[in-house]
Amino acid sequence: MRKHLQGVENIENNTYRIIAVDDEEGIIDSLSIFLKRSGYDFTGVTNPQEAIQLIKEEHFDLMILDFIMTPFHGDQVVEEIRKFNKDLYILLLTGHKDLAPPLETIRRLDIQGYCEKSDKFDQLLLLIESGIKSIKQMNEIKEINNRLSNTYEKLEQAYLESIKTLRYTIEAKDMYTRGHSDRVAAFSVLIGKKLGLSDEDLHTLEIGGLFHDIGKIGVPDSVLLKDSKLTDEEYSQIKQHPNIGVHILSNASIFDDILPIVEHHHEKYDGTGYPRKTCRK
Ligand SMILES: [Fe+2]
Repeated sequence: MRKHLQGVENIENNTYRIIAVDDEEGIIDSLSIFLKRSGYDFTGVTNPQEAIQLIKEEHFDLMILDFIMTPFHGDQVVEEIRKFNKDLYILLLTGHKDLAPPLETIRRLDIQGYCEKSDKFDQLLLLIESGIKSIKQMNEIKEINNRLSNTYEKLEQAYLESIKTLRYTIEAKDMYTRGHSDRVAAFSVLIGKKLGLSDEDLHTLEIGGLFHDIGKIGVPDSVLLKDSKLTDEEYSQIKQHPNIGVHILSNASIFDDILPIVEHHHEKYDGTGYPRKTCRK
């Protein structure tokens, strides 16, 4: 049973790629035997420059790096790598703890851990295992983020499609409204820009402009399309369209931001214009 579990773990380890850089070939050989036995996909190099190039060209999850090397030290290798790769999990190997780089350098270069070289790799293996756990969590978070951003894009798409459908509905009812609403939206955005509104507010203003007269759907054609003077009764029916518009749009929370625009678009600062009758939920 234990053997079987070990096998499963090894298969899982194999999905993570480790690169080790040490100018001592013996260390690379030992690490290779040890880490391959633990199931990791292992690459070892003795030349720091070659390691930098490999990391540029291929994906690695974790790097084990000797600190004191020729022609340049481990911290310089990390400095180079961090210019193009911020995700690589880096563990530094030091000959002796007194020779370790200062804590400040370790933090600045985002080195995740270091340990002393030893014939036994127990301490290093523990560091690698906790590193792999962090990488796994980081990958899961990235995956969730991607899924969320896909969902957001789909929602945004559905929102835009709803807007389009509703607009076609109004246009089918009253061709006058199309040209009028487009102009109101365009002029509102121009005024909003002059007032220094944010992009988000300008977007709300534009959608509000496009839909401010949607309530005309609820006004009878005989009144809406009448080409002669309206009676008082007919005019009072026309005056219902801001309320009807709010009533229609308040069924979908995506329109919450534009409800005040629709609701008040015939009211004026001086108190004139036609008043609304609240019918918001
Ligand atoms: Fe109107």
